[in-house]
Amino acid sequence: MTLIGVIGAGVMGVGVAQNLAQTGHDVVLVDKDERILADALATIARNTRMSRLMGGPALDPDEVLARISTAVGAAGAAKADLVIENVTENWDVKREVYETLDRECGPDTVFVVNTSAIPITKVGAVTKRPDKVIGVHFMNPVPAKPAVELIPGFHTSPETVQRTRDLLTAMGKKAVDVKDSCGFISNRVLMLTVNEAAYLVHEGVADAESVDEVFRSCFGHPMGPLETADLIGVDTILYSVEVLYEHYADSKYRPCPLLKQMTDAGLHGRKSGRGFYTYAQ
Ligand code: NAI
Repeated sequence: MTLIGVIGAGVMGVGVAQNLAQTGHDVVLVDKDERILADALATIARNTRMSRLMGGPALDPDEVLARISTAVGAAGAAKADLVIENVTENWDVKREVYETLDRECGPDTVFVVNTSAIPITKVGAVTKRPDKVIGVHFMNPVPAKPAVELIPGFHTSPETVQRTRDLLTAMGKKAVDVKDSCGFISNRVLMLTVNEAAYLVHEGVADAESVDEVFRSCFGHPMGPLETADLIGVDTILYSVEVLYEHYADSKYRPCPLLKQMTDAGLHGRKSGRGFYTYAQ
């Protein structure tokens, strides 16, 4: 029986764990403390109950939750055959998690990196198994999004690519192949747009509603860039833009100070109840 470790029970980890469990996979969901894990299970229970109403499949919350166990600390994924890592978009945090996973997991365990922008080759290099490290950029909300970006690193083996592709197919995902490059396809474009939209608000050119209205009404986008920032997490947007800015050393990625201020003030978007908009909790 295959066991999948899901590290990080935030916005993405919750979606990845639910998607895996509802497609018949056994999951161990890992985070830093029990409270985060309890909240994550409650969110998965709520999302599976609401699945049909939101246009997804009818799901039995008990059946989905029965496939998910939890553990505190990355070493809790030691027995996993494949690990999908979804911790904070911060290099020091990710590096420490991979050092632990590499030490604790069996030699055949594949590590799947879910990141907005961090190059996969850089992650592979902190492990002794760069051939078994691969990137999958999941989209949010994970169970509802049909495609992902699949990113082999420099040393990723064809076997690792195939194992990951097979898992993605079993999860109901179409994989779009992308070469390893900071920000991949989606976030090279999306993060620039969201960062520039934040500058419009920061400079007082327009408020968030007006910026989003233009994208919805004129360009046919279902959500504007600042609603998207709230969905992704304002903190995650900031960290991703910082990764792009550092990597490309190009001023076009200069992070908007408003994103920094909002992150420091705890205005992280939907997950904290307030970002560019306010949400009922
Ligand atoms: P989040 O901030 O919602 O969740 C991150 C989770 O990682 C938190 O629960 C935190 O407690 C946990 N964590 C931090 N250090 C840990 C450690 N040492 N051990 C175990 N758990 C730890 O972040 P989110 O949005 O889920 O993002 C996760 C990753 O997915 C990031 O790399 C992000 O760039 C990427 N991503 C995010 C998307 C989004 O829409 N939010 C979309 C696609 C990728």
